[in-house]
Amino acid sequence: MEIGSKEHKELFCCSFIESHLEYEPERLPWPNLDSVALESLRAIPFWQEALNTEQEAGVMVNAFAATISDPLLQEAIALQGREEERHGKLIQYLINHYDIEISQPLEPVVPTNIKTAFLDFGFGECLDSFLAFGLFGLARRHATYIPQELFQIFDVVLNEEARHIMFFVNWVTYQQIQEGNKSKWLRGTNAFWHYQRALQDKIQAFTGSNDKKQESFTATGSSNFMDNLTPEVLLSTCLEENSQRMNVFDKRLVQPQLIPNLAKITLRTLKFLSRR
Ligand SMILES: [Fe+2]
Ligand SMILES: [Fe+2]
Repeated sequence: MEIGSKEHKELFCCSFIESHLEYEPERLPWPNLDSVALESLRAIPFWQEALNTEQEAGVMVNAFAATISDPLLQEAIALQGREEERHGKLIQYLINHYDIEISQPLEPVVPTNIKTAFLDFGFGECLDSFLAFGLFGLARRHATYIPQELFQIFDVVLNEEARHIMFFVNWVTYQQIQEGNKSKWLRGTNAFWHYQRALQDKIQAFTGSNDKKQESFTATGSSNFMDNLTPEVLLSTCLEENSQRMNVFDKRLVQPQLIPNLAKITLRTLKFLSRR
């Protein structure tokens, strides 16, 4: 199968559509939490940002789907929109169910340049998901006071994010090839440019140096699960969890590679420096 061909489009759209799970957030087996688990869940600072991110994503992806003329691509992107919307509902349900205090959520707005917004969101999601996979793995191992049932609920959400980034990298590659960009090198440079923008946002969220001083979905959660979290432990867990989640996809599809490869180089450099 040739990447960028009609067969490629059918494979990445159909595998995305067929792997969709039906569930209602309010019908999931939400566990009862004891006071320790409840306190630690309430202390995690990213629920507000997670809710805003997912609600905005739902509105933006649905609006982008409405602009697509190819029926199969349209169906797949609209499905992603519904899944993002459901993530928003799931986080809203969690906030209400466990009585987590947040300020008034922002009303999501449709961005003016919808295709650029979808591109920025997709690359940002590749980076966010890579970090989220690792943080989730660490939390599951170390935050033993949180019941496994809650991790199982978020495991499903993270598998959906893994499907989204697989769909996105294949869509973006297909799209570029269809538009005449057949050079792998040029496509790589383009991806690199988007990722460095997403990474800059992430660094600003970590250091609080942007105007909004937002609490990033993934950037601020780590200290709640584990003391003495080193960059080496975080990166190696991200890599391990990422390869487990991405291994399940059809090997003929394009895999998100740039972020894991950069993480591998950074990890090797950090290990080398600490040995010296
Ligand atoms: Fe989501
Ligand atoms: Fe997503």
